[in-house]
Amino acid sequence: MRRVAIINQKGGVGKTTTTVNVGAALARMGHRVLVLDLDPQCNLTVHLDFDPMNCSPSLYELFQGKATLGQVVRASSEPRLFVAPASVDMAGMELELVNTVGREVVLRDALETAVEAYGGSDPWDWVLIDCPPSLGLLSLNALVACDEVFVPIQAEFFALQGLGKLLDIVQLVRRRLNPELRISAMVSTRHDPQTKLSKAVIDDIKSHFGDAFCETVIRRNVKLAEAPSHGKTIFQYDAICAGAQDYLALAQELLERKDKAPSPVVGELPQSPSPTSQQSSEPDASPSTDAPESDSSWDADEASTEAGEAGASTSIGDPER
Ligand SMILES: Nc1ncnc2c1ncn2[C@@H]1O[C@H](COP(=O)(O)OP(=O)(O)O)[C@@H](O)[C@H]1O
Ligand SMILES: [Mg+2]
Repeated sequence: MRRVAIINQKGGVGKTTTTVNVGAALARMGHRVLVLDLDPQCNLTVHLDFDPMNCSPSLYELFQGKATLGQVVRASSEPRLFVAPASVDMAGMELELVNTVGREVVLRDALETAVEAYGGSDPWDWVLIDCPPSLGLLSLNALVACDEVFVPIQAEFFALQGLGKLLDIVQLVRRRLNPELRISAMVSTRHDPQTKLSKAVIDDIKSHFGDAFCETVIRRNVKLAEAPSHGKTIFQYDAICAGAQDYLALAQELLERKDKAPSPVVGELPQSPSPTSQQSSEPDASPSTDAPESDSSWDADEASTEAGEAGASTSIGDPER
């Protein structure tokens, strides 16, 4: 079972669109796929035609300890694609979680329980988690429950801004809570091949993340923007449009990348940023290698503070990891 967090704390970069349509593409290729909506905005839930006002039990009840994943999961209208919906009540979830015992492992435990309930084998081939546009406790739950991180990136001027913080947090989670975690894919979404800026930003990111960057890009395509309002995946809405082709190609590439054993990158941001990224990358965001260990309590600001203080950078294949 490949467990993937689709994450970028920027909003509007294509996380939900990617989760739904990579999920649907994999399902159409014969895989059993579960997509989870961790975003209190409930966009994935609506995209797959569920009503977040009326979908109890949802992930809200799961995080409250009142429902199991098995009770929350429903079949979508795509064969083999299952969804764990969010409800509007999730809006207060980050705050409620603060006082929950084991607050960062709720989702991991829920997945383990689902496997046990399935006789010890995997109920799904893929679990894709659509994260909220923040790096709080809900996103932390996803990073602890998954082995892989996919980062959708919109290749524009500010693409690198915030990426440093995300990498720091992935590092911190690897070190303290989930040593299996790695960034296995970065994908350019809402891509405009016409602009030089897109190419420059992508070249910049590629030069720092190498293999993790997907060959496939998701082109800007209006059908992808229209499909959610019809409650349909892109394959149900228009199976031959560019968006459908791109997501099928991306799913295929993600399947093949498994064999390539993606590097356990938690890469570096440019040390000497190129002119393209200079103003948009965070200058003090180099991941740390030697920050002190402590308990697993979570503070989303902690990662960057540690990194800033340590001032060291981490390279791929660091033996400590
Ligand atoms: N490739 C694309 N082409 C055109 N519109 C897109 C594309 N990908 C996403 N969108 C639209 O952009 C908006 C943001 O995408 P979304 O997947 O919701 O981002 P996120 O989950 O990161 O906030 C949505 O309205 C979505 O329909
Ligand atoms: Mg979203």
